[in-house]
Amino acid sequence: MTPETITATDAAALDIERIRADFPALHQEVNGKPLVYLDNAATTQKPQAVIDAVRTFYERDCSNVHRGVHRLSQRATVAYEQARTTVKNHLGANDSREIVFTRSTTEGINLVASSFVRSRLEPGDEVLISAMEHHSNIVPWQILCEERGAKLVVIPIDDDGDIILSEYERLLTERTKIVGVVHVSNALGTVNPVREMIATAHAKGVPVIVDGAQAVPHLAVDVRNLDCDFYVFSAHKVYGPTGIGALYSKREHLLEMAPYQSGGDMILSVTFEGTTFNEPPHRFEAGTPNIEGAIGLAAALDYVDGFGIDAIANHEGRLLADATAAVLAVPGVRLVGSARRRASALSFVMEGIHPHDIGTILDSEGVAVRAGHHCAQPVMARYGVSATVRASFAIYNTTHEIDALVAGLQKVREVFG
Ligand code: ALA
Repeated sequence: MTPETITATDAAALDIERIRADFPALHQEVNGKPLVYLDNAATTQKPQAVIDAVRTFYERDCSNVHRGVHRLSQRATVAYEQARTTVKNHLGANDSREIVFTRSTTEGINLVASSFVRSRLEPGDEVLISAMEHHSNIVPWQILCEERGAKLVVIPIDDDGDIILSEYERLLTERTKIVGVVHVSNALGTVNPVREMIATAHAKGVPVIVDGAQAVPHLAVDVRNLDCDFYVFSAHKVYGPTGIGALYSKREHLLEMAPYQSGGDMILSVTFEGTTFNEPPHRFEAGTPNIEGAIGLAAALDYVDGFGIDAIANHEGRLLADATAAVLAVPGVRLVGSARRRASALSFVMEGIHPHDIGTILDSEGVAVRAGHHCAQPVMARYGVSATVRASFAIYNTTHEIDALVAGLQKVREVFG
C-alpha cells in the first residue's frame, strides 16, 4: 500500500535548492560522497536562522530571565517569553500560559505523569496507550502504574500499522485515567486519527496526552481543534536546538497540577516554614531555563511558518510516496508499516541482511539513515524483527536523494551477494 500523500492542493511548491542553502550542515561530503541526510526522525539539521538566533543571544543578550532589572536581563526575558508566544501561535493554543518549556518530549510526558496523573491513579485504575508508542510514552506510565498499583493497557495495531479503533473503544473504560497516544509513529510513520480518538476518550471523561514529536515537523497541529488535554514535542526534530521542547496543557489542568521539580523561579515566596508556588507555566520551569533553546525553537517555528506547514507536508508526502515505491522495487525489501496515512518515515528490512549492516553500507555511500529499534522495541516485536532501517524525510530532501538511497541499497545487495 502506498502512503496517502498529505495534500494541500493550494500549497505553493517549495524551492528546495534555495531551502538547502539555508542549512550549512547539508553541504559536506561523507566518505567522499555528498551527504544524503535521511535521519530526520532522529534529529533535523538546523537552518542558519536558528543558528543565528542562538548565537545572537550569546553575543548580545546573554543574561538570566525573570530576575534582573538590567537591560540584558530584560531583553533575554522578552525574547524568552516571546518564544512562548511563538509556540502558542504555532500550536493554535488559546493562551501562552498554556505552554511550558521542557527539556524534551520525554520530559513533557514525565511531567504530566508526575503532576497530573499520579494523584488521580488508584489501585486497579488503568493507563491506556497504543502498541506503537516510543519508549518515552511507555516507560513513565509503567513506572507510575507500578507505583500506584495501576495497570498499563495497550491498544493493539493491525499488520499495516494502524491502531485497531474498535479495540481502542473496547479498552477505554471507567477504569481508564489517561490515554497516551503518538500523533505520528517514529518507527512506522503512521499518522493516527488523534482528533477522533480524543473525542472518543472525552465522551467517557478521559483526558488525552498526545506525543507530537514526529508530528509538529510534518503536519499542521492545532491543539484547540484536536481538543487534546496535553500535547508534547521537541525542538530538535523541527529544525530547532536539542535540549528544549514544549508541553501544551489546557489551562484548567495546569492550574490544578502540583509542581514537577522545585527550586528557583517556580516560587512566589519562600520561608523556612513554607513556600508559595508561582503561577503556571512558571510553576513548572524550576531553575534557570534553556533560554537560548527557547529562542532557537521560536526561530525554528518561524522558519517553518515562513513556508507554511502545508507546503512542507505536501513536499514530504510526495517524497515519501516516491521513496516507498522506489525502495519496494529493490528485491528483498519488505516494508514495516504501510498504514492508511503516513508521514516522513519509511521503515523496512531486507531479506537476510541485518539493518545495521545496511546502515553501515549506506553510510559508506554518504547516506545517513537510522538502523535499529528506534526506541520502540514493542513495535519491533509486533512485526517479529529486532530492528529496521528507517529513512525519514524533511523539508530539504530531494528526489535525487531517494535515488542515492536506492543506489545504496543496490550496493548492499552486491556486497551480500
Ligand atoms: N526518537 C528518535 C528517533 O526516532 C530519537 O530516532
